[in-house]
Amino acid sequence: MSNGIRRLKPALLLLGLAATATLGGTAAGLANDGGSFASQAIAREAARIARGYEIAPVKLNLNGLDRNLVGLGSYLANSPGGCNDCHTNPPFAPGGDPFKGQKERINIAGYLAGGTSFGPGIVSPNITPDAKRRPAGLTFDEFLKVFRTGHDPDQPKRLLQVMPWPGFGKMLTSDIRAIYQYLKAIPSIKTHHES
Ligand code: HEC
Repeated sequence: MSNGIRRLKPALLLLGLAATATLGGTAAGLANDGGSFASQAIAREAARIARGYEIAPVKLNLNGLDRNLVGLGSYLANSPGGCNDCHTNPPFAPGGDPFKGQKERINIAGYLAGGTSFGPGIVSPNITPDAKRRPAGLTFDEFLKVFRTGHDPDQPKRLLQVMPWPGFGKMLTSDIRAIYQYLKAIPSIKTHHES
């Protein structure tokens, strides 16, 4: 077999699986088929996207956005990323703080609008989309740079001191793009609200 054909085979296999998935296979069905690594990978991605939609605490505006990227971004931002813990002040609505044993209710009025103080001169910024629908007012390239290098976009010589960029920066560019797309879909909040 020539190298070219050997390289083509997995790609064709993936295409076939994607077609099956689109033509009626469900994420759950694929997850249970005990199938190949490729089919399990597709099922895992679909499950992450679905979970992202389940856990998004706010209404999303999908206009002009890729539905799958937004779902994956919600999964990453609202679960492992924990953006709400630091970028929403306070993170939970009154009576909805899981750390106090209460049933969780996110502070939707201030969701990701920043305002949490982490010591002298360090306040989490508003990362909701601006009037141009730019999360934190940043282009994707600027946003990516924050994640990869920790350089403060407003003062490029300063390194962010609380934002967990050393770990976040190791994410795939496609995952960081998904988070950025999700942040485009959330409601824009002008200033942060204390609830
Ligand atoms: C441990 C708390 C913490 C977590 C978790 C966190 N951040 Fe941050 N983030 C901060 C703080 C504080 C700053 C700014 C000050 C600093 O770090 O020195 C910041 C800065 C930023 C900036 C730079 C914006 C600007 O214009 O200055 C972006 C973008 C950002 N965070 C996005 C995110 C996203 C998206 C997530 C979730 C995937 C996240 N952060 C999770 C605390 C956090």
